[in-house]
Order: sequence, then C-alpha cells, then structure tokens
Amino acid sequence: MAHRSIRHFTAEKLTPTEIATLITAAQHAATSTFSQQVSIISVTDPAKLAILGDITGHHWLEKAGHYFLFIADQARNAQLAGDSATAQANLHSTDKLLAGIFDATIAIEAVVTAGESLGLGSTIMGSVLNDVPRLIQTFDLPRLTFPVLGLAIGHPAEQPEQKPRLPQELMHFTNTYRPLDPADPQLVAYDRTITSYYQQRGSHQREETYTHHILTEFSRDPQQRAGITAALKQQGFLTDVPTE
Ligand SMILES: Cc1cc2nc3c(=O)[nH]c(=O)nc-3n(C[C@H](O)[C@H](O)[C@H](O)COP(=O)(O)O)c2cc1C
Repeated sequence: MAHRSIRHFTAEKLTPTEIATLITAAQHAATSTFSQQVSIISVTDPAKLAILGDITGHHWLEKAGHYFLFIADQARNAQLAGDSATAQANLHSTDKLLAGIFDATIAIEAVVTAGESLGLGSTIMGSVLNDVPRLIQTFDLPRLTFPVLGLAIGHPAEQPEQKPRLPQELMHFTNTYRPLDPADPQLVAYDRTITSYYQQRGSHQREETYTHHILTEFSRDPQQRAGITAALKQQGFLTDVPTE
C-alpha cells in the first residue's frame, strides 16, 4: 500500500543475492495450471539496455540497479509436450497465450512487492511493446514466447507522492457490475483530488483531472503499436484467430 513507481535510482547496482531473492519471489507466484509459463531475462549488457532505452523512450532505465524483461513462455512447455498434436494445438491457443501473460504479469508484481519489502523501488514498463520486432530480435525470443513487460528496479533516489486511486465505491462492487455515472459526486471529487495531486506533486506539475487524463491516454494513435498483432502471429500465437 506504500507503492509508487520509482524512476530515479542511486548508482548502486543490485547484488547477485538481491537478484536471486527477487527471482525467488517471481518463482513462487501463482501460475496458471502449474505450467510456469514465464521466463525472465536479466538485461546487463549496456548495448541492450540502450536499445531498451530507445524502444521505451526511458533512457533512465540504463541507470537502474537492475533490469528484468518478463516473457510469456510456452516454448519451454512445447519442448516438454513433445509431438502430441493436441498439446501443440493448445500451446498455440489464445487461452495459453493469455495464461503466459497472466503468469508473467503476476510474477512481475511479485518482484515489485518483494523489491519494495527490501527497500527497492521499481517501474513496470509496458513501453517495451513500442517496438516488438526489435525486442524479439534483440533478445533472440523464439516462437511461442512473447515479451510482456520490463521492470527497472533499484535503490530509490526519489520518494514521489503516492498517486491517489479511484474511490473503492467506483471500482469494487458486490454481486453485480455497477456502471459509472459520470455525474457521480465521488467521481467529481476524485477528479478534484487528481487535479490537486498533479498541481502539488514535486515534478512534472500540470493541470489535469482524471477524466481528462483518460481522454488523453486513449486518444493516442491506435496505430502506434500496430505491430503487436503481427508479432504475436509471427511468434506462433493467435493461430486460432481468423485473418481478415
Ligand atoms: C502494465 C503497466 C505498464 C506500465 N508501463 C509504464 C511505462 O512504460 N513507463 C512508465 O514510466 N511507467 C509505466 N507504468 C507505471 C504506471 O505509469 C504507474 O503504475 C501509474 O502511473 C500509477 O503510478 P504509481 O505506480 O506510482 O502508483 C506501467 C504500469 C503498468 C501496470
């Protein structure tokens, strides 16, 4: 509950013991059908970190204490499953693609939380998907693997304000879904809370409600990451989705 993303780190690198502890946390995360469909790449090569900086636009990641790339991985299971036709068909399915994404996502949050318990800070990066073909090539990702998220982690050199979240009444329901009423006083109050958060925070101050933030976020060009579907197919996924 003390979480905030950390984007400035001290020069101190993570020790091998710290890295092993974080990986242990990832390994013990729940995993769909006990199939352990996640692999993690530690990125230490400065040239590869620079490529990640280019892809994400976050060159500060090169100064993090460590960098992990989380991969949805059915390639390992494909090797274990041998040539059973049913198993191979399953491995290529959207269901198993999602399972890999679930496992990778749950594992990354386990690392984030374990890191915070050790006094480390981190930022999850979906922006690794800005150039999936380059990412796949840089890390030699085989078919039936797909990059999901990156994680810059290290010793915090900042303590940013926590970003206030939506009131629970707007996101936690009982027994049935409750659609949002845009005039809900709780939303109006939350918009005000976010406006003052952006006005008062230590860096990148701006004037913005949450509602406006969402409009801006979802007004980005949908073509920006248009390569994702093609890359998924190239990696052997979405084979059960008809091509247009
Ligand atoms: C799936 C996912 C992808 C994210 N991608 C990025 C990213 O590419 N760059 C970045 O700076 N932050 C990224 N974040 C961090 C979010 O911006 C951050 O969690 C959000 O603004 C809330 O702030 P907080 O984590 O400090 O509470 C990502 C978070 C998630 C969960």
